[in-house]
Amino acid sequence: MQTITLHDKQFKPFISEEEIDAAVSKMADQVAKDLGDEVPVFVGILNGSFMLVSDFVKKYPKPCEVTFIKLASYEGVKSTEDIQRLIGLTQDLSGRTVVILEDIIDTGNTLHEVHRIFKNENVKQLLIATLFYKPEAYKKDFKLHYVGIEIPNKFIVGYGLDYDGLGRDLPAVYQLKTTQHMTNLVLFGPPGAGKGTQANFLKEKYDLVHISTGDVFRYNIKNETALGTLAKSYMDKGHLVPDQVTIDMLEAEVERNTGAKGFIFDGFPRNETQAKALDKIMDAKDSQINAMIALEVEDEVLVQRLLERGKTSGRKDDSDEAIIRNRIQVYYNETAILKDYYAAQNKYYGVDGIGSIEEITKRLHKVIDTL
Ligand code: IMP
Ligand code: MG
Repeated sequence: MQTITLHDKQFKPFISEEEIDAAVSKMADQVAKDLGDEVPVFVGILNGSFMLVSDFVKKYPKPCEVTFIKLASYEGVKSTEDIQRLIGLTQDLSGRTVVILEDIIDTGNTLHEVHRIFKNENVKQLLIATLFYKPEAYKKDFKLHYVGIEIPNKFIVGYGLDYDGLGRDLPAVYQLKTTQHMTNLVLFGPPGAGKGTQANFLKEKYDLVHISTGDVFRYNIKNETALGTLAKSYMDKGHLVPDQVTIDMLEAEVERNTGAKGFIFDGFPRNETQAKALDKIMDAKDSQINAMIALEVEDEVLVQRLLERGKTSGRKDDSDEAIIRNRIQVYYNETAILKDYYAAQNKYYGVDGIGSIEEITKRLHKVIDTL
């Protein structure tokens, strides 16, 4: 399940269809057990409860009646006590066992109205069943006889619940994301593609934090952090640093930059394990990777660029054509899997990396501005 957008807001998966199904089954069984041979009248409160009521009565193992009511605010009446009027209660319920089926109980204001309305109905008993309940938000003391799932005080949609009209039709429940509008990029490019140069421009233009894995490693090792020391112990033995150490270091770097408008990840992730870990890190921040952008440059151009660079910089690994070709090959071997990983989520963007620096910057802006 992926993040969804309704109007201007993003929502992330929160409660699955399976979990909802189990909760509804459990509630139906409990009510049936408690009511014995009594034939209850289930009263759904519209609009939100339509999906719950439908599933609930299908699961209810004994005969029952079903009806719906709707509460509506009086138009034009302004008062602190938001008195509501009732639509749809045409049936005589005196002497009956009535079970209110609510999708969600939040502050309990709606429930208060329900109690007020049913006071004059002479029902035998009034039982309250709600699929979702926000204990932190509830301000009343009416008893809730059956509660499906307790949830934190966060706004949810789906399974009957809406955000400004949308989302009622979703079979699962999603939670509002609180961190909006972060731009998180994974920047890729073979050696010589101009990644460093472009990352610097992007960082300025979009006010992003550039996280270069190389820099993060050097920082942690130099400052002898616990993770840096651990990483160094592997490197000193000529071993690869385990994914988890790299992941922990990157996560700490993300955490150090609270309030960032977004990140450019450079040199990370390197494999699918790291990519999945990065998704988790972003998810914990109510955010996500928006795009993997790869600068695409033909091998022959890269080789020429690097050989040129080698002449002026004197970098050994930029002076030997065989070494250069091997580095390029290693890059493609490593990134092929990641390209597939992000492409499967429609997040892969290849950008032509041949041309002037400004031209390439413009191409990158064009991609990022559509995210
Ligand atoms: P109350 O605060 O318990 O009266 O809940 C009022 C109504 O607000 C509910 O019947 C829902 O229609 C709506 N509501 C409360 N919490 C949520 C939510 O998280 N998502 C969508 N609608 C909600
Ligand atoms: Mg409701």
